[in-house]
Amino acid sequence: MNTLEGKAIVVTGAGRGLGAAFATHAAAAGAAVVVNDVDVAYAERTATEIADRGGRAVVSGHTVADPVRAEEIIATCLREFGAIDGLVNNAGLNYEAVSWQDDPELIRELVEVNVLGVMYVGGAAARAMVDRDGGSIVNIASGASLGQRNLATYAASKGAVASLTYSWALDMEAVGIRVNAVCPLAYTRMVLKSERSKRACEPDRTPDRVAPLVTYLLSDDADGVTGQLVRCNGSQLHIVGQPYLKEPILERERWDVDSVRRAFDEVFGAHLEPYGLEKRVPPRLRKWVEPLRSA
Ligand SMILES: NC(=O)c1ccc[n+]([C@@H]2O[C@H](COP(=O)([O-])OP(=O)(O)OC[C@H]3O[C@@H](n4cnc5c(N)ncnc54)[C@H](O)[C@@H]3O)[C@@H](O)[C@H]2O)c1
Repeated sequence: MNTLEGKAIVVTGAGRGLGAAFATHAAAAGAAVVVNDVDVAYAERTATEIADRGGRAVVSGHTVADPVRAEEIIATCLREFGAIDGLVNNAGLNYEAVSWQDDPELIRELVEVNVLGVMYVGGAAARAMVDRDGGSIVNIASGASLGQRNLATYAASKGAVASLTYSWALDMEAVGIRVNAVCPLAYTRMVLKSERSKRACEPDRTPDRVAPLVTYLLSDDADGVTGQLVRCNGSQLHIVGQPYLKEPILERERWDVDSVRRAFDEVFGAHLEPYGLEKRVPPRLRKWVEPLRSA
């Protein structure tokens, strides 16, 4: 397997968990890898593992959450390997909170890493790729972006990553950069922090089961694949549908409260969408749908 032979790849948050699996898999596929993590000791461990198996890796201990350090992560790749062909925007944080008791400091810290970090490192990588022959960016999103209980800030950050992916794919196609996102599920430190996540993710869902998807998206085998959100939970692999403008689209010169109320009473009542990853039926529809479900 040498699908990434001759390519230089940056993986952020690659000291442990999914990032470490993505970095070691990419290296085994022939890539030279920048192993980035703020926990430098862990990044060194991943890089040593790659070197012990005959691969090429250098360590970057910069945070993704600062634009100057983000540039330095990409500069490390250019300096050490003379190019950048791929980026896996993987570094991320999460925590659970009851939405109305969320802590502004935790919100800021999470958004700085999960959203701004992806923007900073992705922007720096794209600037370097534009100067060359293009490349491939893989953003790590999450099924949580569809909405999950007690994870609103994390879910919103991953929704931002999904929106960035669609927009970057539109912007960057003309300069030869493909941009996709992966929604993984794997047994990592992040899962261990939550009783609910532990119930949803068995220990056999190891991060290396998601890595082949990331290596594929980084490789030239994925030419023509861009703007996609792809989910892999170890055993299942599927595309995540994009939000869309739903029919019927009602038209009026102007809307007032009365006509909006009538639109809901007369038309949208039957078109309300189940919401959240759990597909919760809105209360107005429940009386119609739930008796049928329990019948
Ligand atoms: N584990 C899952 O099931 C799951 C599900 C959906 C999405 N994800 C996403 O996958 C990615 C990896 O998660 P994981 O489960 O391996 O978590 P993890 O906590 O095991 O690993 C995350 C790594 O990111 C590093 N990191 C944190 N902040 C950083 C920063 N500012 N700069 C550089 N590195 C930083 C951490 O030190 C850590 O090594 C995250 O983006 C996460 O949101 C994970």
